Amino acid sequence: MQCAVISNRPLTEGFFHLSLAPEEPMGAITPGQFVMIRCCDFTDPLLRRPMSVADFEPDGSRFGLIVQTAGRGTGMLSHLVEGDRLDVIGPFGQGYNVPQEAKSVMIVAGGTGVAPFMTLAPTLAAGGKNVHVLLGARTKGHLLMEERFLHAGAQVHVATEDGSKGFDGLVTELMGKQLDHMDEPPDLALACGPAGMMRAVATLAEHSNIPCQVSLENSMACGFGACLGCVAHVRGEERYVTVCRKGPVFDSREVEI
Ligand SMILES: Cc1cc2nc3c(=O)[nH]c(=O)nc-3n(C[C@H](O)[C@H](O)[C@H](O)COP(=O)(O)OP(=O)(O)OC[C@H]3O[C@@H](n4cnc5c(N)ncnc54)[C@H](O)[C@@H]3O)c2cc1C
Ligand code: FES
Repeated sequence: MQCAVISNRPLTEGFFHLSLAPEEPMGAITPGQFVMIRCCDFTDPLLRRPMSVADFEPDGSRFGLIVQTAGRGTGMLSHLVEGDRLDVIGPFGQGYNVPQEAKSVMIVAGGTGVAPFMTLAPTLAAGGKNVHVLLGARTKGHLLMEERFLHAGAQVHVATEDGSKGFDGLVTELMGKQLDHMDEPPDLALACGPAGMMRAVATLAEHSNIPCQVSLENSMACGFGACLGCVAHVRGEERYVTVCRKGPVFDSREVEI
């Protein structure tokens, strides 16, 4: 699917927001799903790069990505300008599943892990749910989308690793403190970020008996179940599942993180 670049907006150092218009609308997108992007027309890098869909129109006529420059592929994406074209396939995978009966939801996001919640958090808040967003970043200059979540009516709590804003430490430490001080624990926790963070969120949620869904960022070559390069070990069983098809969002008790 060819997409036209509508805009490429720098967010903070090393992070940018790409807005894309597919030639044909992509159809329904579930927050947490991802696309596979061909970063250039030649062979280096050869493999497509996986990116979570961030903000999007309900019919898939436009969608956004929040990208962190990590290496060659994302470096190429950072130079795209309005009118450029990009080869994208997807959306792929299983996104977050918030049961109707969940009244309060705790979202924990680190870095570009805010992406799947850009549409989900406002939707949940508009649907009357009590939404807490815990945002983690290295410094206050690296915080992403705080205003958007506040504007959506979520209660936003910030953690920075250098203490320049909000809680001084990791977002998972902040999560532990929040859970200790809440009168009632949330009905559900949703998380996206690096694997270590997902592991810590899952452990905290399990100790507090809160159902938890985490998004895994295993390396992916195809994105649709063909290469078996992305597998995760099913907890307590001698079998594996492909993160690209069965995930990337899993119940935290389902797989080894
Ligand atoms: C489901 C999923 C959703 C993702 N969503 C986002 C997102 O919304 N925003 C964002 O900025 N990044 C996201 N990533 C990570 C992103 O895919 C990698 O940062 C990107 O592929 C790096 O490509 P590169 O060529 O720039 O870097 P490379 O030079 O290839 O590598 C730089 C670093 O990125 C890691 N990396 C490389 N390829 C992959 C890969 N296929 N999967 C995971 N990590 C990889 C490497 O281990 C290395 O640490 C997501 C990854 C997955 C699996
Ligand atoms: S990325 Fe190929 S099977 Fe998952």
